[in-house]
Amino acid sequence: MRKVPDIAHRNMFPAAIDKLGLKKGAEIGVFEGSFSSLLLEKSSLEVLYSIDAWRRVDGGLMEESFLKATLALNQYGDRSVVIRSPSPVAADLFEDGSLDFIYIDADHRYEAVLADLNLWVPKVRRGGIISGHDYSGKGCGICKAMTTDEQPQRYKKKVKAAVNKFVSDNGIDLLTTRERCPSWWFVAK
Ligand SMILES: C[S@@+](CC[C@H](N)C(=O)[O-])C[C@H]1O[C@@H](n2cnc3c(N)ncnc32)[C@H](O)[C@@H]1O
Repeated sequence: MRKVPDIAHRNMFPAAIDKLGLKKGAEIGVFEGSFSSLLLEKSSLEVLYSIDAWRRVDGGLMEESFLKATLALNQYGDRSVVIRSPSPVAADLFEDGSLDFIYIDADHRYEAVLADLNLWVPKVRRGGIISGHDYSGKGCGICKAMTTDEQPQRYKKKVKAAVNKFVSDNGIDLLTTRERCPSWWFVAK
């Protein structure tokens, strides 16, 4: 079995992806596409599915963010597949074990994070990486777009609590990056 790489910062996911030979990834929650762009630019992923509803909780469409994301990702040609869809609907498009890498960064409410974990974790094959953003209550910048009139602050600690519940229920060893707003990750068993 390959050694699990140290990932000190989320910018190091591309190097870990290449070290582990991961080829098929998905980012769930894309916003303006900056992290999807980084994954595609810095790794050898053959395909990255960039999944986002680009729709606020009040129902309003996020057209500007959608446009920015599609413009940013267009340069990667067939390696980039943008899916505009709510996370649970998009999850149905993927067979279990069909992905090598996922990064969950969509709805940060407690139940939504748990729902995303339950939906998306089975999609990753053994030896792949399951990861996500905002494993902290301290100063993480949560997309305002996601919450609009609700208070982003309220959700800051929810990701950590939901991820902790999932890994504790499933006996998973969790790892985190070490920057101010950490990412969480583990290897799929
Ligand atoms: C924190 S931003 C993502 C930031 C991005 N991962 C990055 O690092 O640049 C969260 C995004 O998740 C999307 N989102 C929230 N809930 C969602 C859902 N249920 N399904 C799909 N996308 C969702 C929002 O539209 C928003 O663009």
